[in-house]
Amino acid sequence: MAGAGGDWALITGASEGLGREFAALAARDGLNLILSARQVPKLEVLAADLRRAHRVEVVVIPADLAEAAEAERLWQEASAGRRIAVLVNNAGLGRNGDLAEAEGWPREAASIAVNVVAATVLMKRAVVEMAARGSGRVLNVASTAGFLPGPHMAVYHATKAYLLSLSEAVAEELRGSGVTVTALCPGPTATQFFASDAAEGATLVTRLGMPSAQSVAAAGWAAMRRGQRVKITGATNRIFAFLPRITPRPIVTFMTGLFLKRRW
Ligand SMILES: NC(=O)c1ccc[n+]([C@@H]2O[C@H](COP(=O)([O-])OP(=O)(O)OC[C@H]3O[C@@H](n4cnc5c(N)ncnc54)[C@H](OP(=O)(O)O)[C@@H]3O)[C@@H](O)[C@H]2O)c1
Repeated sequence: MAGAGGDWALITGASEGLGREFAALAARDGLNLILSARQVPKLEVLAADLRRAHRVEVVVIPADLAEAAEAERLWQEASAGRRIAVLVNNAGLGRNGDLAEAEGWPREAASIAVNVVAATVLMKRAVVEMAARGSGRVLNVASTAGFLPGPHMAVYHATKAYLLSLSEAVAEELRGSGVTVTALCPGPTATQFFASDAAEGATLVTRLGMPSAQSVAAAGWAAMRRGQRVKITGATNRIFAFLPRITPRPIVTFMTGLFLKRRW
């Protein structure tokens, strides 16, 4: 995918999980990299490894995307003098817990800020430049959570529904422009996501076998390269994404709540 003069991929959430894998895939494709997240030492180690292994340029730009205006700053710094051919909106987080619980708002607010607001700011900036140029790819990491309301993880599911909807709509707006938007919808995947207080490790979801971050990222990257609009990874996840279309919404919501319940 590398282009004349050196194309760049901007990857958020590159310090862990899926983001690290996207960085490796982009470097393998000969793209120069801008890696962003909060954990700078992890980004620096990854950057050094990728420079050595793939002879690409790698720049680290730390950003806390839960902070207002950080996404805008990240885009301005990342795009200054660089042609960003690929944007991977991967940074994301969630919280397992009911909205009616008094605690949890800082993490719920951060989920909205990162999964919704920052992702939209970066996508907006990217597609304006890409459309003017007539080429570019956006990979938004949504989730199968985007297909169904998620009791006990309500804010997270709502953020992913937003990102999925946004991706599909903008992909249509960009039809024929040379710019594609792909929403990757993984199910539970073996990363730090469930080790953090995203799901507190005790839901039925986390007791099911989880695919590796490497395999999920590879499927998403390949879908992005094809310009596929929505990529749901894994047969079980495709069923979970399809069932809500033929099942009454209250039943879907009730069943999802059972899967996301913290204590069994
Ligand atoms: N794992 C799953 O089961 C699963 C399933 C479906 C979708 N997803 C989605 O996949 C994406 C990647 O998650 P993952 O599974 O790889 O989880 P992860 O291992 O927890 O990685 C999350 C990444 O997001 C970054 N991040 C979190 N808060 C941030 C903030 N305030 N500012 C900037 N970066 C922030 C983290 O970097 P720092 O901590 O260094 O800032 C980290 O690199 C997320 O959007 C997630 O919703 C995950």
